[in-house]
Amino acid sequence: MGQYDALLKPLEIKHLTIRNRFLSTSHQPCYNEAGKPSERYIRYQEEKARGGIGIAQCGGATGIAPENSAHYGQIDASRDDIVPHFKTLSDRLREHGAVSTIQLTHGGRRERWDSTNWLPAYAPSPRREPVHRSFPKEMEDFDIRRVRDCYAQAVRRCKEGGIDAVEVTCASQTLIEQFWSPAVNKRADEYGGSLENRMRFGLEVLEAARRLVGEDYVIGIRVTGDEMTEGGLGPAECVEIARAYAASGLIDFISVIGGVPSDYISTAKVWPSMWLPSAAFLPLASAIKAEVDIPIFHATRITDLATAARAVEEGHLDMVGMTRAFIADPHFPKKLMEGREDDIRECVGATYCIDRVLMGHDAVCVQNAATGREETMPHIVPKATNGKRRVIVAGAGPAGLEAARVSAERGHEVVLFEREAETGGQLGIASRVAWREPLSGIQRWLDGQVQKLGVDLRLGQEATAAAVLAESPDVVVIATGGSPNKGWFEGAELCATTWDVLAGRVEPAENVLVYDDQGAQQAPLCAEFMAERGSKVEIMTPARELLTELSDTTFPAFMAELYKRGVIVTADTRLLAVKREGNKLVAVLRNEFAQDMEEERVVDQVVCEHGTLPNEDLYLALKPLSRNLGELDQRALIAGAPQAIASNPAGAFQLFRVGDALASRNIHTAIYDSLRLCKDL
Ligand SMILES: Cc1cc2nc3c(=O)[nH]c(=O)nc-3n(C[C@H](O)[C@H](O)[C@H](O)COP(=O)(O)O)c2cc1C
Ligand code: SF4
Repeated sequence: MGQYDALLKPLEIKHLTIRNRFLSTSHQPCYNEAGKPSERYIRYQEEKARGGIGIAQCGGATGIAPENSAHYGQIDASRDDIVPHFKTLSDRLREHGAVSTIQLTHGGRRERWDSTNWLPAYAPSPRREPVHRSFPKEMEDFDIRRVRDCYAQAVRRCKEGGIDAVEVTCASQTLIEQFWSPAVNKRADEYGGSLENRMRFGLEVLEAARRLVGEDYVIGIRVTGDEMTEGGLGPAECVEIARAYAASGLIDFISVIGGVPSDYISTAKVWPSMWLPSAAFLPLASAIKAEVDIPIFHATRITDLATAARAVEEGHLDMVGMTRAFIADPHFPKKLMEGREDDIRECVGATYCIDRVLMGHDAVCVQNAATGREETMPHIVPKATNGKRRVIVAGAGPAGLEAARVSAERGHEVVLFEREAETGGQLGIASRVAWREPLSGIQRWLDGQVQKLGVDLRLGQEATAAAVLAESPDVVVIATGGSPNKGWFEGAELCATTWDVLAGRVEPAENVLVYDDQGAQQAPLCAEFMAERGSKVEIMTPARELLTELSDTTFPAFMAELYKRGVIVTADTRLLAVKREGNKLVAVLRNEFAQDMEEERVVDQVVCEHGTLPNEDLYLALKPLSRNLGELDQRALIAGAPQAIASNPAGAFQLFRVGDALASRNIHTAIYDSLRLCKDL
């Protein structure tokens, strides 16, 4: 018996046969258009089906009623015109052997009133949730009847559209869970008070659905195994609810998560980043599995084969949800089946994907730039058909590694220069505090692939112009990254940068001002690193709050780590100048709004974060010798066509810049720059 065989056994639920135990749980990547599954969305789900998953749970938080807002790009199942779209989605997934489900959700008080149809949010009781901030209307008897019937009609539409099964959301503290939860439900009628009363609305929804779709259709629910919130449902009550719903005979599976995203810190825990341990909520799924006799699904930060196989083999669950694992690598199951486990790109828990959705953008993966872009970007890079070329890449950070990987996949001869003794570039700095270590997985995978593909990796060798020209290149990719910029204020030369500190070039002093004019991970990471080593740290930003570039699954982790270490947080304050006074530094500060309010801070050290400036010496040296004089044809890049600019026909090679060597951005963009350029070389 193979080590991972448990994952490859089929599972039967009623008439459905699921080919293996790999599950992508319901999630909303925000790719849809006007409430219908877009081609982009279908291609995204299809890629996972092609990659071998058993169930593709689609339509995360699909709306069922007119008051359901689509602020995360949800599908709208509240009208019959959705049926043909479901048909297309289910047919295309079936073609690749995957079972499809749709998740039907009424967000209750988690809806916004100021979008879609401008209707109020509805909830069992008029208590506001701090994240979505709507003051909900308390549901009256006719609201309860109407929403129950909306659910049933939406289930019917899924069945008519050929969707194999439905998942009714009773998790993430959406409407049905709001009825269950004593923290939210304060009603005095037959829907409030005792657990039996609180369970009533959800059971009525399922009964109404069964009346329309019959006994054979597969319907499941998604629940929490512990709300982990003050006054909320504890594990024992969650097990009791699961037992009662299973015993009702109305449901065919239960998908279990942990916690509720009802405030910032609980949001960071329910969709955990690398801040939290692997498989932390598996015991909650296991506790429910022990009490019911229908299949149990579970997902939460299970990212590797060994944990997934153990969870199934030891009987903690029946289907293992690896939602972000399949965002990072949609071909994960197929690689296992082909004996290519080493090629699996594991999710590192950066939560760039979900953070973007929570900010109202589309989900993309920090390390796999093809995910969600299946219409234009390949997960399997095809070989070039226009001949082998000699590609020289300067710099082995994320951009350079990806450029080398993709060029080598194209079949080109690739030389990769890196002046340091190891690859990874900024990734090494970004993973300097213990809980950020998993980020280095990005470098490990890329490094492994580059080596496997036979790239000529020259560690410890600077890519000088002479060294590059000596290789007789056809293409030169400059991925030399950037150097930290302190900002443009008087006295900047007296300050250190976050990189200086994180790279160990500058020792943390006693009293430190960390000035963040960037808004992403770097400054809080540095502040935490220094506080950990005994510095008294104030972190300051001119923005109205820290970490404006990050969203709800990441900033709470950084803030918690800062506050735990006594770091003082100051917003709305601009650093105007730094002066030396004896062995101290004086920071001159101005309030961003009341601009006549100035003050001074006397500290031992000022550390700045203001992005990077490109390391462009090599680029500038090679530019006049290149055929395109360094120019990139943006329209060709976007259209997926080869670069053909030849403004200097005498030039022997094409020259391109990628990543921060072009402009200060982030890891994902560095990787995307390289993938989209090099896939057409
Ligand atoms: C981009 C994104 C959107 C999500 N949207 C939903 C959603 O609409 N409904 C839901 O129940 N869970 C949603 N989730 C949560 C996932 O279903 C899953 O529970 C979570 O990602 C943890 O599992 P994982 O660690 O395997 O990714 C979302 C997750 C991601 C990454
Ligand atoms: S962005 Fe991060 S958390 Fe999301 S799938 Fe990619 S590696 Fe995983």
